[in-house]
Amino acid sequence: MSKKLIIRRFYFLVSLMFNVSFVFSYRIGLTPEGLVVDYPNLDQKKQLRRGKDTKPHRKIGVGTLNISDKAKQYVHQALHSNRLSYGPFLKKFEKSFAKIHDAKFALMSNSGTSSLQIALQALKEFHGWADGDEVLVPTVTFVATSNIVLHCKMKPVFVDIEKDFYEINPKLIEAKITPKTKVIIPVHLFGQPCDMDPIIAIAKKYNLKIIEDSCETMLARYKGRMVGSLGDIGCFSTYIAHLLTTGIGGLSITSDPRYAILMRSLLNHGRDSIYISIDDDDGVTSEKLQEIISKRFSFVSVGHSFRVTELEGALGLAQIQELPEIVAKRRKNAAYFMQGLKELESKIQLPKIREATEHSFMMFPIVLHTETKTKLINFLEENGVETRDMLPLINQPIYKKLFNIQEGEYPVADWVNANGFYIGCHQELSKDDLDYVIFLIKSYFDN
Ligand SMILES: Cc1ncc(COP(=O)(O)O)c(C=O)c1O
Repeated sequence: MSKKLIIRRFYFLVSLMFNVSFVFSYRIGLTPEGLVVDYPNLDQKKQLRRGKDTKPHRKIGVGTLNISDKAKQYVHQALHSNRLSYGPFLKKFEKSFAKIHDAKFALMSNSGTSSLQIALQALKEFHGWADGDEVLVPTVTFVATSNIVLHCKMKPVFVDIEKDFYEINPKLIEAKITPKTKVIIPVHLFGQPCDMDPIIAIAKKYNLKIIEDSCETMLARYKGRMVGSLGDIGCFSTYIAHLLTTGIGGLSITSDPRYAILMRSLLNHGRDSIYISIDDDDGVTSEKLQEIISKRFSFVSVGHSFRVTELEGALGLAQIQELPEIVAKRRKNAAYFMQGLKELESKIQLPKIREATEHSFMMFPIVLHTETKTKLINFLEENGVETRDMLPLINQPIYKKLFNIQEGEYPVADWVNANGFYIGCHQELSKDDLDYVIFLIKSYFDN
């Protein structure tokens, strides 16, 4: 063999080895130039190569915000109209929101919490319930679900959650019912509807009302019926990082006009519902006008200043048109995570989707079967993946103080509080982002 041929073969072999190593490293999400990062505060002191082109991967948040051109245009229009109080944008937004959730009325307030509070207060006033009457709430939820019960001078009574879906366990509800129980608040957590049929059956049996806390779930059907339309009143949040975002905001929906009138009044200082909007007196005849004039400043309940402006209405109206696409993308991202993390199912519980039910995936919950979450969430955060606790309620300092809750009283909530967290699966995540998260979680368990 000539010297030239030997040199050529040598170069061929070297380039072949380089290519094979490139292809292999790319397959597992690395590049030959990947940055080596040391994690000294992790027990396993693992060395992780991360990102491409030596840069760390971009931060992966639990939520996102993308104000579309249409939203900017609507906000601009609202500003140009010189009208900020309850007007055409809010009215159209409320109408569209009610329609897509199969309800007759929607009322926008300044938060999901306010929407829940006026819902419970309206029911309490309408049905003449007493202070100290009881409301059933799940042991895992955002603290607002239960706080509003206290703000209405009622008593939250906790019901533990289902191990598979993290939502109020219908099998445990009846044991908590007393002659003072008036309402059940099922919380459709993380984008998934609760198991509503048994809850509705219990409510009928004991003559209880249902307020659905759907602050984390929109546009999801339970056995063909829309969240928010399954109980007496449904409440949603449009706070930052929710499925539809207006900055601050919330909606209460109902098909009962009596509750709608009361809630509209309660979010407007308890004002007589004859005059809610500044154009309610436009073009009315003299007799009606005189009635409006006499009641313009008439207050019939102890209400709140929970109103929003046309700017939130404009943002909401633009986004409602984008909502089906947003939810579809989130479902796709969640399915990709589930497929990618499937092999870890002996170590972590991935989200399960209830039979005949849609999930709108406001977030992606993960619960470690036996290990506590601390090391894994620190590892993810150090690598740019945001996490949040899976909505602990009963172990909050103020709840421990107020209710004297004992460790072990609610075993499923204890397990979720210790081992559960969630990450984002929002519509702005790219395939590369999703692969990166999957790679990180797998590499945590590999070591
Ligand atoms: C389940 C649940 N209920 C109520 C709320 C309160 O909504 P807001 O923050 O708009 O007051 C939230 C907020 O995220 C929530 O997740």
